[in-house]
Amino acid sequence: MTAEYKVHGDVAVITMNNPPVNGLGHATRMAIAQGIDQANSDPAVKAVVLTGAGKAFSGGADIKEFGSPKATAEPNLLSVILACENSAKPVVAAIHSVAMGGGLELALGCHYRIAAPGANIALPEVKLGLIPGAGGTQRLPRVLGVEPALNMIVSGEPVKSELLAQLPGQKLFDKMASSPEALLEEAMAFGRSVADTRPLPLVRNMPSKHPMGDAYFQFARNMVKGMAKNFPAPAKCVDAVEASTKKKFDEGMTYEREIFTALMFTPESRALRHLFMAERAASKIGDVPEDTKQREIKSVAVIGAGTMGGGISMNFLNAGVPVTILEMKQEALDRGIATIRKNYESQVKRGKLKQDKYEQRMALLKTSLSYDEIKDADLVIEAVFEEMGVKQKVFEKLDEVMKKGAILASNTSTLDVDKIAAFTKRPEDVVGLHFFSPANVMKLLEVVRGKKTAKDVMATVMSMAKKIRKTAVVSGVCDGFIGNRMIEQYSRQAGFLLDEGATPQQVDRAIEKFGFAMGPFRMGDLAGNDIGWAIRKRRAQERPNMLYSRTADKLCELGRFGQKTGAGWYDYQEGKRDAIPSKLVEDMIVQHRKELGIEPRKISDEEIVQRLVFSLVNEGAHILEEGIAARASDIDMVYITGYGFPMHRGGPMLYADQVGLFNVVQAMKRFQKNPRDDAKFWEPAPLLLKLASEGKNFN
Ligand code: NAI
Repeated sequence: MTAEYKVHGDVAVITMNNPPVNGLGHATRMAIAQGIDQANSDPAVKAVVLTGAGKAFSGGADIKEFGSPKATAEPNLLSVILACENSAKPVVAAIHSVAMGGGLELALGCHYRIAAPGANIALPEVKLGLIPGAGGTQRLPRVLGVEPALNMIVSGEPVKSELLAQLPGQKLFDKMASSPEALLEEAMAFGRSVADTRPLPLVRNMPSKHPMGDAYFQFARNMVKGMAKNFPAPAKCVDAVEASTKKKFDEGMTYEREIFTALMFTPESRALRHLFMAERAASKIGDVPEDTKQREIKSVAVIGAGTMGGGISMNFLNAGVPVTILEMKQEALDRGIATIRKNYESQVKRGKLKQDKYEQRMALLKTSLSYDEIKDADLVIEAVFEEMGVKQKVFEKLDEVMKKGAILASNTSTLDVDKIAAFTKRPEDVVGLHFFSPANVMKLLEVVRGKKTAKDVMATVMSMAKKIRKTAVVSGVCDGFIGNRMIEQYSRQAGFLLDEGATPQQVDRAIEKFGFAMGPFRMGDLAGNDIGWAIRKRRAQERPNMLYSRTADKLCELGRFGQKTGAGWYDYQEGKRDAIPSKLVEDMIVQHRKELGIEPRKISDEEIVQRLVFSLVNEGAHILEEGIAARASDIDMVYITGYGFPMHRGGPMLYADQVGLFNVVQAMKRFQKNPRDDAKFWEPAPLLLKLASEGKNFN
């Protein structure tokens, strides 16, 4: 049983109890329905109060049942709501903390609702590419009015109960409790006060109207179209709410259900539900139990006040953790601190940060030129130049000075974390924390687990990541870890496409149409083409046989590093970021093809997208097979949160699943025949072949 039934005098109290948020799983639904029955057959009971134990009234569907037959088994949520409506005795929902999704829909099926202040009220289904499916779109407009209801349904964002209670004419809450603590007592008293009221009020019998009807819904549709871009659900929210004003209640319910079911099968909803689960999965590490004792992180030291060191520090300052930044020279420190200040000041100017908060954060920041002053830090993150020799010196020093039990992390983007760990006598305390630039903004954190990294270090940094609001994904040690190792293949394909006949603008346009925020060439211009150039030079020594298009090197030889030099793959006007196709670059590419003796051909947008995305997929499959990533969904998280992969596609691995792995393999076999491409790379990864031949997929 996941709800308790208890009679207090003449009031029965049903308390949902399914931690953490009283998800409406099958057992909970069953227990509610039984409680309603029991109350109705007990002559001593005059009214029923429905509430939730612990941290919520109810957070809605039980995510543990997602996609399983239990999710829809009878009594399903609609049946439970019907049981509440049909109860001969008044049912009062006593709402506190959280009433979301199905939880709110359940409350809307009760005769009365009383809410504690501070409760978060939401219908967040749109965030999973759906609309509410148990009457939310039909009942909420009836109690809140069309506009506020549609706002909540389209945004999915929570609104505080006390704000909703202030809406003129609202019938969502019949009463506000004086405090969360008093809620239950006041709900029971309210139940007694309405014990003899007949007929009992039902939301379904209330009207749903908008004074400007059609015009309003037309405005709403236009607004939503602009916002929703690649997602069908928001527009469907408008349709469903409009139906509440035009159709009879039960017809509206049928309409809602039809939309809900159709959306459930869209790739966009599948992608969003996948990412919702992927985010939760990524925080778990198979062999590190959730109750692993963690180390305490009360203070942090950062080595290096450059681009990354500054951004990394801000994450901790924002979370209220004191930071000391260490540098070799005072000038470098001054420069670093000035950048942090500038960053915060621009947030203050834009109204994103209050002046006093800014000052509080800066007060947590110290600087130092001496290791002696950081030796007591619980976590130290190294962000110095990307050179093994420099890292060696830093880690030897850290090993010498840092207190026992301190976690020693490196922000290296390509170097071998096991080698770095070996510079110390405590490799179990060493871990990679690969932040992405700008580190105070980007959500992704690759946590690089060395061969010897201790389990409690992993557990500690994973929960620290949550504290600084990062999405942490664990990667094994390899060149480039998950994200950059895959992007290398993507960049190589982009280069080959130029060699074969495409222009930078055609490649960018095709992949941006697919949904990437920025194509590879615009991205290169933004990040600086010289960074990739340096990496290619290093790799040319390590992997001399790796094929590349030489176009990117030639571009750099011309000094066209991107926006920072005013020219890259595109031309830029001073002070502007618009990418203007460059005649010079086009000529350079044409000349390059001539030198290679390649006859250019017309390349379709479809081929461009497939080659770029499937290159990620094939490398991703290798990464999965080697155990560098624990799950395909981890790879998807990396790409969504760190590389601008379109959210509605759910990440490269889910995209491959949706295309069908058989089709992906077929395409790779076609690409192998391209004369200029790297045929060896396009040999499908063994895992991919195996899954495809078994008719399976990655997720
Ligand atoms: P940067 O050149 O902006 O900053 C490096 C800073 O380290 C400089 O201020 C320098 O004075 C300082 N430094 C050098 N040696 C030092 C030492 N022995 N002791 C104390 N300070 C020292 O470099 P950036 O871009 O911040 O990169 C730092 C690390 O982060 C590198 O390992 C890089 O691969 C990695 N990384 C960089 C990303 C980026 O987009 N820039 C993204 C992710 C990781």
